[in-house]
Amino acid sequence: MKLVPKLTAAFVAATFAVLVVDGYVRVQREVTVLRADRERDHALLGRSLGAAIAALWRTGGRAEALGIVDGVNARRGRVHVRWVEGAGGADHVHVEASTLREIAPGESITRIVATGAGGERFTYVPISVAGTPEGMLELSELLAAEEEAAHRIVVDTVTTTLALALVSGMLSVVLGFWFVGRPVGALSRKARRIGAGDFAAPLDLPQKDELGHLATEMNAMCERLAKAYDRIEDETAARIASVEQLRHADRLITVGKLASGIAHELGTPLNVVTARAQMIASGEATAAEAGDYARVIVEASGRMTKIIRQLMAFARRKPADKVPRDVRRLADEVLELLRPLADKKDVRLELHCNEAEPSATVDGAEIQQAMTNLVVNAMQAMPRGGVIDVSIEHESAQPPGSDHASPYLCVSVRDHGDGIAPDHLPHIFEPFFTTKDVGEGTGLGLSVTHGIVQDHGGWIDVQSEGKEGTVFSIYLPAGKPA
Ligand SMILES: Nc1ncnc2c1ncn2[C@@H]1O[C@H](COP(=O)(O)OP(=O)(O)O)[C@@H](O)[C@H]1O
Ligand SMILES: [Mg+2]
Repeated sequence: MKLVPKLTAAFVAATFAVLVVDGYVRVQREVTVLRADRERDHALLGRSLGAAIAALWRTGGRAEALGIVDGVNARRGRVHVRWVEGAGGADHVHVEASTLREIAPGESITRIVATGAGGERFTYVPISVAGTPEGMLELSELLAAEEEAAHRIVVDTVTTTLALALVSGMLSVVLGFWFVGRPVGALSRKARRIGAGDFAAPLDLPQKDELGHLATEMNAMCERLAKAYDRIEDETAARIASVEQLRHADRLITVGKLASGIAHELGTPLNVVTARAQMIASGEATAAEAGDYARVIVEASGRMTKIIRQLMAFARRKPADKVPRDVRRLADEVLELLRPLADKKDVRLELHCNEAEPSATVDGAEIQQAMTNLVVNAMQAMPRGGVIDVSIEHESAQPPGSDHASPYLCVSVRDHGDGIAPDHLPHIFEPFFTTKDVGEGTGLGLSVTHGIVQDHGGWIDVQSEGKEGTVFSIYLPAGKPA
């Protein structure tokens, strides 16, 4: 139930209860007063008539005195008067004889009697002349008119009570809507807009009460939130830019390392090209030989072009672009690129993959950079050479901090080097943490790799026990189960 109808219902119920109690008490009081008034009037009329009759009886005699009774009845008023002969012994009297005898002269007694016409009031006034009780006056009056007046009081009171309840209910609905419902509605709409991230259009509530105050506070909060939002956006942009720069720097460093291996690779075909070109230029070669040499030169420069193109492709900076890629192919390209470096170090690179095209939605260049970092680290961990196993397989794994497994594509790089010292292990993913000599290591490789894998919604895991070597595993979300 909404606030305004709730408040209104409570207010109307309370008002109604008070009005009903008040109405009941008022009706009781007014009806009692009405009855007492009528009774007093009745008795008063009886006693006045009695006094007049007694006085006339003394001066003008009985017949003249009782003529008053007929005179009163002839007017056909509310009250009917009857002369009852004798003091109390008469019949058709509604008071016991013993009681009547006790009434002092000039006093009266009144009784209410239930009759066929819905009740009647009788008042008896004994009349004595010169000390002799002669009889008594009986005044009677139907109660129907009195009941009707009482009924009118009840009807009037009920009508007034209902009208008051209705007016106060309507008033509380209107005022409740105007002072509470309307501003609370505006406040809740504003809160909804804030929740949706819209801090514009400040609330304009002119009222100077708590709700107006709340609106002012809400507007101030919006301003602060908008500023905080802007600041966070700026900071996030700066952080993204610096991470991007870090990645690029790492790529260039790797390129530098690769270049030294590649220089060796380029050296051989370059020598071939130079020697054959010189032979052609000096005219030493016959026309047929020149043709053969030219073909050798084309072949050697083709190989050099390929190496340089790979290097360029690696160093080039491209925006992240995640599409379904064949991860085996990506790994193949990385190993191909690193093979000259590996050969120089007497390291054999082996790729294991049971699936024809293990697919994952990734940015190919970034995942290749991550794989290169892991393989270069592995090579550096094996100064005496050996085998590095790169394997790709789908598996069902539990992300760190989660308690249910999902399908992932796992790329792992296993070396047979000296492993990672237990006290280094917690730090290896920190930027610039390195155990290598200046020029050998920058400490960026693993932190960049960690960032790339996280960007892909995956995680990186490391196992390194004793001198058994190290396994780094990259988990990438996979569309299909293992
Ligand atoms: N395969 C590995 N075997 C042993 N130690 C490793 C291996 N990979 C990484 N490390 C350790 O982690 C550190 C950080 O690696 P990385 O972030 O790639 O920086 P860098 O290779 O430039 O030192 C390395 O200096 C090394 O001590
Ligand atoms: Mg490294």
